[in-house]
Parts: sequence; structure tokens; C-alpha cells
Amino acid sequence: MKNLYLASKNQGKIEEYKKLLLNVNCQLLLQPESIEVKEDGITFRENAIKKASEVSKKTGNYAISDDSGICIDALGGNPGIYSSRYAENDQKRIERVLNELDGEENRGAYFIANICVCSPLGDVILESEAKCFGNIILNPRGESGFGYDPIFEELSSKLTFAEMDNDLKDLCSHRGRALKKITPELLKLFA
Ligand code: IMP
Repeated sequence: MKNLYLASKNQGKIEEYKKLLLNVNCQLLLQPESIEVKEDGITFRENAIKKASEVSKKTGNYAISDDSGICIDALGGNPGIYSSRYAENDQKRIERVLNELDGEENRGAYFIANICVCSPLGDVILESEAKCFGNIILNPRGESGFGYDPIFEELSSKLTFAEMDNDLKDLCSHRGRALKKITPELLKLFA
């Protein structure tokens, strides 16, 4: 079985990937603590490529990364690529967004994920992108998930990501749908 390194230290993402890649015949390993990748790209795609490429080259194995975040219409697309750095922890990031949207009627937002898979030599072999549209609600709802999940109400279900069970979130989330697009190739790559 080939190794596949997940280029991330984000525990919430890791849990989602373990489930999403259940049918892919690979050993999913976490990015070694010693590897630090500077996310200094100016697009999600650029950061996703950088993460997968550096982790694959440094480990000599396949690597998969995603760069994701939430883009809020009334904030001109912010926090965007700065989603994980918008404040020092999830609770403060949520507070900041709610404060910045105080009194704002346009609550439209979307999550986006750019996924990249690199060969053990660091070459990009697969890429995918997906968005999930919704609204930022006034008060957080739900207990599960991570990050901005409690304040993002998905458009069709009217549930926040934090109110969804894992299966429903995988079905409609940016990450779940981006990964689904490249699953046939992943199944072949790790057959
Ligand atoms: P990255 O690790 O640089 O891609 O950072 C992504 C950041 O975007 C996370 O730390 C979260 O704050 C946010 N984010 C991305 N995907 C999700 C999600 O599915 N739910 C909630 N927050 C997310």
C-alpha cells in the first residue's frame, strides 16, 4: 500500500480526510511535525500547490493538500486566504466575523477548497476546486465540525455545517465535493 501524506496540521481537516479517503487504498499519514510550509501564496490554488509539493518532496511520498477558507461578500471576500489567521482561535475568528458583519444585511458567503495531489518528486498530478454557498447567521448554531462551521448556514439545507452530521457535510461541503471530483483518479493512482 502506498503512503499518502496529508499536507496539513489542522485536526478538523484530518478527521474529514480520513473518512473521505476511506475507499482509496493508501496509508494516510500526517504531515511530519518537522515540516513547516509557509502559506504565502496569494490564491488558494497557489497555497494548495505549495503545501502538497513541499510535503511530497520532503517525505519522498505522494502528498495531498487543500487550501480552503471562507469568503464573505460584504467583507470583499475576506477572510479568504487569511481564514485560519483571522484571529488567534476559532472562537475569536467567529467573533471577529460577526462583529464585522454587525448591522449588515448582505450575509452571503461561500467556502472554497482547492485540492492538490503531488507525486513523490513534487510534481502536480491532480487538482480540484469546489465551492459551497450559504449565509453567515447572526448567532452560532451547532456543536460539530471546526472553524467557521457554527456560523455558516448552507443554502439548500438551511443547516449550519456544525448542525450537520459528517455524512451530510461531506456531501455538500467544498472539501467533500472537490475531493469527489478527483476520487476516480485517486482510486486508480492507489489501486
Ligand atoms: P488552511 O488550513 O490554511 O487551508 O485554512 C483553512 C481555514 O479555513 C481553517 O483553519 C478554517 O478556519 C477555515 N475552514 C476551511 N474549511 C472549513 C470548514 O469546512 N469548516 C469551517 N472552517 C473551515
